Amino acid sequence: MPIANNFISDINDEEYTFDLELGWCPECYLVQLMSSVPTQLMFNSDYAYFSSTSESMKHHFQGMAEEIIHLTSKINEPFIVEVGCNDGILLKHLAEKGIDHLGIEASANVAEHARGKGVNVVNTFFNLECAEKISDEYRSADVIYGANTICHVDEIESLIKGIALLLKDDGYFIFEDPYLPEILQKTSFDQIYDEHIFYFSGLSVSNLLRKNGLQLVNMKPLEVHGGSMRYYARKTNAADINSNIKKLMEQETKNRLDSLAGYSQFKNNITEICTNLRTTLQNLKKAGSTIAAYGATSKSTTLLNYSGIGPDIINYISDTTPTKIDKYSPGIHIPIKPYSHFISNPPDYALLLAWNHKKEIIEKEKQYLAKGGKFIIPFPEVRIIQ
Ligand code: TYD
Repeated sequence: MPIANNFISDINDEEYTFDLELGWCPECYLVQLMSSVPTQLMFNSDYAYFSSTSESMKHHFQGMAEEIIHLTSKINEPFIVEVGCNDGILLKHLAEKGIDHLGIEASANVAEHARGKGVNVVNTFFNLECAEKISDEYRSADVIYGANTICHVDEIESLIKGIALLLKDDGYFIFEDPYLPEILQKTSFDQIYDEHIFYFSGLSVSNLLRKNGLQLVNMKPLEVHGGSMRYYARKTNAADINSNIKKLMEQETKNRLDSLAGYSQFKNNITEICTNLRTTLQNLKKAGSTIAAYGATSKSTTLLNYSGIGPDIINYISDTTPTKIDKYSPGIHIPIKPYSHFISNPPDYALLLAWNHKKEIIEKEKQYLAKGGKFIIPFPEVRIIQ
């Protein structure tokens, strides 16, 4: 599999590939990639992913910023740290209110965008060493937050140790990542790609935190990224454990995530989705329909390459991110076109690769649908929206 966000300028460019394979630990129940891509190849000054390309994500992070402000409202001069602040989509709300904060961002180009929004950013990877530095050069944090970043960090033990070191005794570590039971339930195997090293559940997260002196105190299911979980952790002397945890963990145990049995159907379900999707698209193509795709998401790299859906079927992928436009999708090489191209060349069918933004996109594309355009949604089962 190629690197999910490695959009290339020339189809003759050499691409790094690796074996995309998942493993499950019978002791701590963690699901993770069996081999990882060197971090510098994924997160660098050419990083293609900008959080602020979706209105619903802007809204989501504004809500989270308000939650952090509320949580720390009684603290005199709170200090908030975000691990992986991307283009400052969350921290800009704190910066605007003059709240002391620091973003740690590994990719220089997105970090620069965050700076442009008045956000304080350090361009580095977060681990124990980085936490020691921040704690020396700045101070301990009241809240450490990470959205779609903790599952990206290969040196997870060092990261969690760093969190425990940097967090105040009464502080909160809050993070959100795609939720493994949602991936299994929706068969959304497109979430499996190089950047997502870990696929968390409450069972695995509570083990991981406990080993490093932190305790899971709450879990909140979220709709973003096709189904995520927000985890709240505190230092182990915390007393206020929410009853949500028990309920969600019981469900995870009922779904057998503590045994290989919980994963036995996943592969068959993936094969079924791939076969259905490819057959649907090939039949439409044979019937003379034009097909494009919508949203050059990271996750589409897995879906398109694994299903073998390429430029012979999909004419182009429309995307609003300037760094992706006029490049080719990783591995399978479908041209990426600007949104204006979708407006001027509307296809009969648009494969919705950004299916996690279905609500926002269908609302935005009312006219496309009204004129007879159709969306093909791949998950949780292949279906067509007219
Ligand atoms: P995202 O949902 O974050 O998925 P991933 O984490 O898999 O990359 O990415 C959304 C992509 O879709 C991003 O490249 C921007 C694009 N997009 C559009 O082109 N138009 C839209 O209306 C929306 C919401 C997203």
